[in-house]
Amino acid sequence: MAKTVTDLDAFKENQNITVIDASKKLKVAIVGTGWIAGRHMEQYTKMPDVEIVAAADLIPGKAEKFMSDWGYPDVPCYPSCHDMLENVKDLDAVSICTYNTQHAPCAIDALEHGVNVMLEKPFTVTLEEAIEVMKAEKKSGKVLSIGFQPRFNPNMQMIKKIVQSGELGKIYYIQTGGGRRRGIPTPFGTSFIDKETGGIGAMGDIGCYSLDMVLNAIGYPKPLTVTGYISDHFGKDENYWTAENKPKEYAKVFGVDDFAAGFIRLEGDIMLDFRIAWAMHLDTSGDTIIMGTKGSLRIPSTECWNGSIGGPMTIYHDIAGSSVGVATKVPMLDNTREGEFFHKIRSFLDAVKNGGSAPVPSSQIIINQAIIDGIVKSSKAGKEIKIEIPEI
Ligand SMILES: NC(=O)c1ccc[n+]([C@@H]2O[C@H](COP(=O)([O-])OP(=O)(O)OC[C@H]3O[C@@H](n4cnc5c(N)ncnc54)[C@H](O)[C@@H]3O)[C@@H](O)[C@H]2O)c1
Repeated sequence: MAKTVTDLDAFKENQNITVIDASKKLKVAIVGTGWIAGRHMEQYTKMPDVEIVAAADLIPGKAEKFMSDWGYPDVPCYPSCHDMLENVKDLDAVSICTYNTQHAPCAIDALEHGVNVMLEKPFTVTLEEAIEVMKAEKKSGKVLSIGFQPRFNPNMQMIKKIVQSGELGKIYYIQTGGGRRRGIPTPFGTSFIDKETGGIGAMGDIGCYSLDMVLNAIGYPKPLTVTGYISDHFGKDENYWTAENKPKEYAKVFGVDDFAAGFIRLEGDIMLDFRIAWAMHLDTSGDTIIMGTKGSLRIPSTECWNGSIGGPMTIYHDIAGSSVGVATKVPMLDNTREGEFFHKIRSFLDAVKNGGSAPVPSSQIIINQAIIDGIVKSSKAGKEIKIEIPEI
């Protein structure tokens, strides 16, 4: 027996018309002018209340070319985040779009200069860095939002609604993650695979999304312990790169995880089983499943996991005491990546303007980061470890 549910509210929420008050302009700067910075510019340049006032990149000439390509040849550009913060006065907000290892230093610097921060995901590389960023955030009183645009996908919001409605009963087990058969990202060089710049690999690139999808749905409970495993069998193999028509030297540069797995005990007696792969000999490492005492939810994986959902979700539950063939399909709601990015940036700007709280707050994402960090540390130690997140 299959029944269909639709959720008009979730649909309407995604289609909401945002009225933007353009009488107060926000001065915004971009730090790190690679691919993702372009996605931020796509949104900022649409906002009538945003003035792009500066950019910075460590690579000489890169920020200048980026701004010129976007039609802002006269915007001052700086050779580093720090230089920019020291020289540009009255900045309201900055988008930090650097590679992972520069997230923490740039975010701390910006907060210490009294600037609101839109920080790309992953939050940081280590838990210790995330704690330092949060201390700076607290001291500054500024808005810090982390760049998880799938939060604004109504299908992702539906997962949370289903869990929070109690439809599944008490949640006790979750499996999440995903992966790609071949997909170590090097479209613009080695910043994702070099330890110096990426710091972490598949976990920080795509794993943090699957963790956010389920942890946000269940209200981000504290993680208690983790047994983790990371490996680099594909990235370290010269044959992988030659087969991908990339320089075989990438194998020597490769210094991060291309696969990670973790078994995490969460507060509230919930087990989280997680795995993520940039490359593997497998089509998919499995759907996401959320198991509860009254029902379970299956969220189809995608071939190339990037924070999206592979198709309609299914709720398995009993009706009139019978489980035979009972499954409820949850139809996909309209969504676009463009819409996700719009709401990611707009909700941040609204929080800055109205003194609201961060749309994707560090207080949640530190838990995501603690799990990733715990997987690295447990893998190194070869045993289960405790996760401890201090009060900040
Ligand atoms: N939200 C998303 O959908 C999404 C998609 C892709 C990437 N990302 C994230 O965005 C970040 C950047 O990704 P990318 O593909 O644009 O990387 P990239 O390596 O192409 O660009 C990063 C740029 O930052 C610059 N940079 C580093 N440190 C700097 C500093 N201190 N001051 C000034 N410039 C600095 C580098 O020189 C480089 O040009 C990564 O953390 C990645 O995880 C998010």
